[in-house]
Amino acid sequence: MNVDGKHYRSIWLAEDGRTVRIIDQTRLPHAFVTVDMVEPETVATAIRDMWVRGAPLIGATAAYGMALQMQRDPGDDSLHAGYDMLMATRPTAVNLRWALDEVRQVLSPLPPADRLEAAYAAATRIADEDVEINRQIGANGLALIEEIAAAKPAGEPVNILTHCNAGWLATVDWGTATSPIYQAAERGIPLHVWVDETRPRNQGAYLTAWEMAGHGIPHALITDNAGGHLMQHGLVDLVITGTDRTTARGDVCNKIGTYLKALAAHDNGVPFYVALPSPTIDWNVQDGVAEIPIEERNGDEVSYISGKGPDGTVLPVRISPEASPARNPAFDVTPARLVTGLITERGICAATAEGLAGLFPDRAAA
Ligand code: MRU
Repeated sequence: MNVDGKHYRSIWLAEDGRTVRIIDQTRLPHAFVTVDMVEPETVATAIRDMWVRGAPLIGATAAYGMALQMQRDPGDDSLHAGYDMLMATRPTAVNLRWALDEVRQVLSPLPPADRLEAAYAAATRIADEDVEINRQIGANGLALIEEIAAAKPAGEPVNILTHCNAGWLATVDWGTATSPIYQAAERGIPLHVWVDETRPRNQGAYLTAWEMAGHGIPHALITDNAGGHLMQHGLVDLVITGTDRTTARGDVCNKIGTYLKALAAHDNGVPFYVALPSPTIDWNVQDGVAEIPIEERNGDEVSYISGKGPDGTVLPVRISPEASPARNPAFDVTPARLVTGLITERGICAATAEGLAGLFPDRAAA
């Protein structure tokens, strides 16, 4: 998508065709800074410390990490070591494992001398496919927005609530939850987006709000607790979130707080949709609550909040007593029964085993 009139993806290769370039998302919205990565360890740090984040982008970044590992040493031991190091970075988004498996499957049968080029080609294919998947999710989700807009008095905006950042920054381009929003905006459909701040890392405030502002989409930042109230007052027409892992029966794991939005949507009859690229489906898992590993991050992310002071300095500040420990589960699981539908690249389906298998018979059977 565009930043100051220039098109960017969230990850790309520098002019030498080897260096992996990303946007340091920890610096947004205050500074737009890119980082060049030439060592696979830097890629692991970038994923673990959330310079990049978002399930699809984590997958694409790890794939390029494997290419850097092959550049250092294309041998079998190196292949396995790179896979293990990158796999250990974050536990919840299944795209990480999916992308690493895809790259390993390509590289393993090859003689080491052929692996470097093949690794870059595989990573680039994963990145390009992500863009196409998200573009298609946008086209499919657009139909939902058009339907709601058609039922409203002319000119009245469709109010969409989203949680965390499932925007282009969380993918290679377009975003998942934001792709229908961007495509509806391009068609001139009046929109208004409620952006959950998404404590503790504030991906909504720092990233989604930055994306919306950058693309001229009317929006308002709200606290994580405001959604239920807005729904009770008829101010939300549609919820669209992303997902970090969705099970074969349609349970949706996403950023902490998503479950509470789904409960409020259910109680208020507000449609709750999840934008789901197929690499985010974990076909090996059924019961999301019982089976998906939930990342527990450092409590300091809860105890401190970072922001820009009046003199322009960006600083973390402590917001709780030194004596108060904090806990920080980073994701939760919304049971399939609370999900109105899943917006995939192949169409929209019910959040059920049958719904998913109907759209992806080739994958469900595997
Ligand atoms: O911890 P993060 O920032 O990696 O979590 C990201 C999310 O929860 C997103 O909503 C997500 O990955 C959905 S799909 C783009």
